[in-house]
Amino acid sequence: MNRFDQVISRQNTNSVRWDKYAKDVIPLWVADMDFAVADCITEALERRIQHPIYGYTHASEEFKEAIQDYLLKRYQYAIEKDWLVFIPSVVSGLHMTARNLLKPSEHALIPSPAYHHFHMALEGSQNAYSTYSYRLQNNRWVIDLDAMRKLILPNTRLLMLCNPHNPGGTVLSTTEIAQINALAQEHQLIICSDEIHADLILDPDLQHIPIGKEVDPHQLTMSLMSLNKTFNFPGIGLGWAVIPNANLRNQFAKDLHTLVPGPNALAFEVSLAAMQGGEAWHVELLNYLRQNRQIVKNWVDSHSGLQMAHLDATYLAWIDATLLNNKQLNQDFLSAGVAISPGQQFGSNDFFRLNFGTNQALLKEALDRMSKVVEKN
Ligand SMILES: Cc1ncc(COP(=O)(O)O)c(C=O)c1O
Repeated sequence: MNRFDQVISRQNTNSVRWDKYAKDVIPLWVADMDFAVADCITEALERRIQHPIYGYTHASEEFKEAIQDYLLKRYQYAIEKDWLVFIPSVVSGLHMTARNLLKPSEHALIPSPAYHHFHMALEGSQNAYSTYSYRLQNNRWVIDLDAMRKLILPNTRLLMLCNPHNPGGTVLSTTEIAQINALAQEHQLIICSDEIHADLILDPDLQHIPIGKEVDPHQLTMSLMSLNKTFNFPGIGLGWAVIPNANLRNQFAKDLHTLVPGPNALAFEVSLAAMQGGEAWHVELLNYLRQNRQIVKNWVDSHSGLQMAHLDATYLAWIDATLLNNKQLNQDFLSAGVAISPGQQFGSNDFFRLNFGTNQALLKEALDRMSKVVEKN
């Protein structure tokens, strides 16, 4: 049996995803997966808990070197150890970016649709911001760069990216990254790129490009990275920012160890284990998620009221239900026993996002339940 087909109950684990709705609802909303972690991760935790003291823990040299090796191997991105800032989660990194890198009078650009913490970060820092859109081109969501250029104001200082994109799944190409970097350089913008989904690229011919890879290290780029999503331990959590520019790095990190704690002792262990021993599990995961993407695509294709562009990456399907013209679709899905993420959360009312990071039996059952709603419409 494929290890990802295993059905693992998450009842009684205080799961945010599984506890929000009634027990008989299949929850395909918030982004974690129903898969057991790689054995190397469980073993690393078991090893660490043999020692009964869990004191304040810092990133070891071995840990920083493991990240250097990992980024070099996976993305051919060579970094210095001191470019790294360790954070407990990527969401903390998004909020730190908005609060610490912008003066009150400065303006930012964020994507739309987007993971909701992009706009929450700017609301939190109370900075003005504009949203730049993705549009469909050859069945792929692309950033409208001309429209983005027009949004740049004299006081625009920060450009936030989500690459790969949640919810559209787009992986930015070398050309797109170069164009974005050129635009940022021309206008002296900081680019903060949320790259948490970088290792969830489903198309084997696509490659993740960290934002700072192709430019001079003095340029104002920062990548927010984490293995939380890919290796499915967001409840333990650890992220890092790669910030080559020292001033930017110090400014970003100023709330660390005060408002924002460093990562916890177990988080270093699981992240190290994932980098050093998680590769085989990761390859199998991507194979399984590719199958799940196909299952979702076939389901969407079988309903004339639904549409979905090609999803390069992530386990989050972004489905257009405009043609159904059903203003209470999310409620109807819930009544039929499936919880999805309403598109409104990402800024697009007529869409919904479906998390397919679950075993195929449950995914098919959820889609069958949803079909009844779509067909009745
Ligand atoms: C784009 C993006 N950034 C950040 C996060 C959350 O990351 P973390 O759990 O490390 O805060 C998510 C989770 O869905 C996400 O999709």
